[in-house]
Amino acid sequence: MAREQFGVCAEPSLHGYFLFFNALDDNTLFLRKALSRVPALFDKYAERFSEANLAGVVAIGANFWDEIYPQARPKHLRQFPEMAVEDRIAPSNSYDLYIEIRSDRADVNHIVATKVCQLLADSVELVEQVRAFRFLDGRDLTGFVDGTENPQGHNRRRVALVNEQQDPEFSAGSYLHIQRYRHNLNLWNSMEVKDQEDIFARTKVNNEEYSEENKAATAHIKRVNLKDSEGKSIEILRQSMPYGDMKVQGLLFVAYCHSPEPFELMLESMIAGDAHGHSDHLLKFTQAETGAAFFAPSLNVLAQMGE
Ligand code: HEM
Repeated sequence: MAREQFGVCAEPSLHGYFLFFNALDDNTLFLRKALSRVPALFDKYAERFSEANLAGVVAIGANFWDEIYPQARPKHLRQFPEMAVEDRIAPSNSYDLYIEIRSDRADVNHIVATKVCQLLADSVELVEQVRAFRFLDGRDLTGFVDGTENPQGHNRRRVALVNEQQDPEFSAGSYLHIQRYRHNLNLWNSMEVKDQEDIFARTKVNNEEYSEENKAATAHIKRVNLKDSEGKSIEILRQSMPYGDMKVQGLLFVAYCHSPEPFELMLESMIAGDAHGHSDHLLKFTQAETGAAFFAPSLNVLAQMGE
């Protein structure tokens, strides 16, 4: 049975290092071999610094997949759904490779990121890097707890991983969407706490969900809590982390799923809104600056890449 990469379903970490690369021409053979060796590199440092709970992910960009693995393509792998309605935008970038390094030690992440860059060497160009961190008790920089309604325990695998029935060749892989959001915290912090709470439809300090009748149609959780035609919840596994310094702050939104559709539907519901034009008012305070779609193959497929 295929095994997933350990970072996909891993529990939240204290620190994250997220790397986005483009491949340079004519080095595909070298790159395939190098990528197939990244999981062993993660294992080596996970063992050496066992208390750091290191977990990583290697993912391939939707536009680059056919080049790196021409044998076959995950059934539903497609481009990031670029969207723009009024001032609500979801731009799309084309990154070839994504490497996620998460652990409870920033120094260990730094070592591993350095080793990954050395391993990929001249076959790639680093185009974006985000260092992220856990904020207080798992809060976004808006001050609200992020991740409460994430699937828990065994459900994380059910939601995040492709299963045998869905796509046997790519089982234990995961569709991944990333958006780097930049917050306008001056504007956000100028609001009363109650107005902030209305935007999420959860209380700030105690993280309690509003009752159904008190949730505005424009509230974030109202826009993203969707049901399918049988009334079942549509779910994703979020592994987002805050990032920032004294100039720029935001959330690196990271979502894994067994299909790209749930994320696409949620984003559409946030940006385009419902039939009555209710879009997500959170987007008045934060804006996506990047967006990209990837597939994180199983460890087995990654190993085959190097053969
Ligand atoms: C800067 C951007 C975002 C911020 C700050 C943010 C923050 C939050 C917060 C605080 C919650 C409530 C607690 C929780 O259940 O996690 C939440 C819930 C959720 N968010 Fe976001 N989010 C962002 C973007 C997105 C995007 C782009 C999507 C999907 C397209 C998304 C999907 C979800 C889902 C599915 C839930 C759970 C809803 C529920 O079942 O109650 N979020 N988010």
